[in-house]
Amino acid sequence: MNILRSAAVALLGSCLVASVASAAPEHDPVPKQSWSFDGLLGHYDLASAQRGFQVYEQVCSSCHGMRYVHFGDLTGLGLSRKDVMAIAASHKVPGEPGPDDKPVLRPATLDDPLPTPHVAPGAVVPPDQSDLAMVYPGGPDRIFALLTAYGDVPKGAHAPPGTFWNRYAASRAIAMPPPLRDDAVTYSDGTKATLEQEARDVTTFLAWASDPHLDDRHRTGVRAGLYLLFLAVLLVILKRRIWSNAHRNR
Ligand code: HEC
Repeated sequence: MNILRSAAVALLGSCLVASVASAAPEHDPVPKQSWSFDGLLGHYDLASAQRGFQVYEQVCSSCHGMRYVHFGDLTGLGLSRKDVMAIAASHKVPGEPGPDDKPVLRPATLDDPLPTPHVAPGAVVPPDQSDLAMVYPGGPDRIFALLTAYGDVPKGAHAPPGTFWNRYAASRAIAMPPPLRDDAVTYSDGTKATLEQEARDVTTFLAWASDPHLDDRHRTGVRAGLYLLFLAVLLVILKRRIWSNAHRNR
């Protein structure tokens, strides 16, 4: 009996320990942000997404690639085809092999994916950003939190060599150096480029890249909803007409 009881206590104890361990988050709880693309009727703030592409292109793309997004896709941000062709042409990508069998660099075209930069051997590989906003645990809220939360290591805490303290990174340390600062870019639409504005815009861009057809889907949803509502009203009217005769003839 005693053995049974101590076994039960041990089991309960280990369950408690396990649940406490799994409940303790490895990073700080992520504050909820309000995004243009939230909710059933959400749509992307394209001006913000365009600024975010500027941040991606001028800052993030020196380390992160986007292999599933093609230059031509950028027209979905509301940029003109001409502008997108100019953006593509400003990037050099490997083309046909030259006389020495090495690919000769050529300007990118609309059909090329956004380039993936080389990583030094042994370095931590930055994740591809094509669908990062979708697959990163915590999504856009956590990307925004991460980008805006770099700071000094608090007293008593420790970040391993080669990492930076960030309370929203797993185990609160990350190999990515703080990528943003005030005026890291000069926005072509004149918006003031504070660190927070850059973080918000690049997160909107990453959300767009990971799900560019959200707007279309929501528009189709609204149209289908209106159509069903129209049908329902029509059915009620028809039903009334048909049955009003039936009542009269009784
Ligand atoms: C100097 C190179 C560099 C730049 C510039 C850079 N990153 Fe990173 N990034 C990294 C590396 C390396 C990792 C992997 C970090 C790790 O696993 O510890 C990473 C990881 C990330 C992650 C995942 C974090 C996690 O918890 O695993 C996000 C999100 C991210 N980067 C966003 C961005 C954004 C947005 C920009 C541009 C504003 C950017 N990065 C610019 C190197 C960079």
